Amino acid sequence: MIDVFSKAQSAASFIRGKSSVQPAVGIILGSGLGNFATHVEGAVRIPYGDIPHFPQSTVVGHSGHLVLGHIGGVAVAVMQGRVHAYEGYDMNQVTFPTRVLGLLGCRTLVVTNAAGGIRSSLAQGSIVAISDHINLTGTNAALGPNEPRFSVVAGGGQRFFDMSDAYSLRLRTLAIEEAVRQEFLLTEGVYLAVLGPSFETPAEIRAFRTLGADLVGMSTVHEVIVARHMGLEVLGLSLVTNMAAGVPAFGRDTADQIDHEEVMEIGRRVEKQFTCLLTALVPQIVFRGSAESAKGAENKS
Ligand code: HPA
Repeated sequence: MIDVFSKAQSAASFIRGKSSVQPAVGIILGSGLGNFATHVEGAVRIPYGDIPHFPQSTVVGHSGHLVLGHIGGVAVAVMQGRVHAYEGYDMNQVTFPTRVLGLLGCRTLVVTNAAGGIRSSLAQGSIVAISDHINLTGTNAALGPNEPRFSVVAGGGQRFFDMSDAYSLRLRTLAIEEAVRQEFLLTEGVYLAVLGPSFETPAEIRAFRTLGADLVGMSTVHEVIVARHMGLEVLGLSLVTNMAAGVPAFGRDTADQIDHEEVMEIGRRVEKQFTCLLTALVPQIVFRGSAESAKGAENKS
């Protein structure tokens, strides 16, 4: 059986054969946010199905393309859609694209998602910078034998690794400052991950609030765990597509049902704001950066 590292290497070398772009920043686009990829300059679009070992999303609204190109002069690799554990994929499959982004040279990972709002001051359509997470999916992406060859950044690839600054303070600060420039309020929040695919019950949401969660969703934490295992710096952005079950929302009865179409519709509505924020942030991530991200910038072609 081929090990995950070798599979990720062969996926990365296939991608290198399709584009000479050496990405410094990897971006994973969640439900309803896939259109951001159309803003990549000089884009080369590779269907996931063409890339060796790449898992394919079965979820409506996840287009399934890896897009390589530039944003504001920075080489990027954008994943238009992701796979989730609730689709039946195992942890190695869910995190495989993130591993490949690391091997392609990304030093920063921007993960985005659609989430339900738990904190009642959040509104449908708001963008939140993830400050931390609570993983209630019942599993961990780094499960199994450790693979030290995934040490993409010096110090990465450890069996036990720190998660106390998983969502980089530096990147959160850049995002909040950029939102101020763009005249909207970007608050921070704790993202709690469930396995799904059922949405939560109101009792679960009450319990999650007690635990300290502001947002709930079915993705992200596994990608962030392997990104941190590799030593990447992470920025997480959630789009509040709906208030979570039982949480009052303006114009909506708490008994109203949550549906995936609503998630997609809100994504489309907030797309412009999201795109403006991320397009402005990408160059700052690299050029107003740490030593590591400055190294990543040298990769830009
Ligand atoms: N719960 C879980 N995942 C989600 C939600 C939600 O309310 N909205 C979007 N993704």
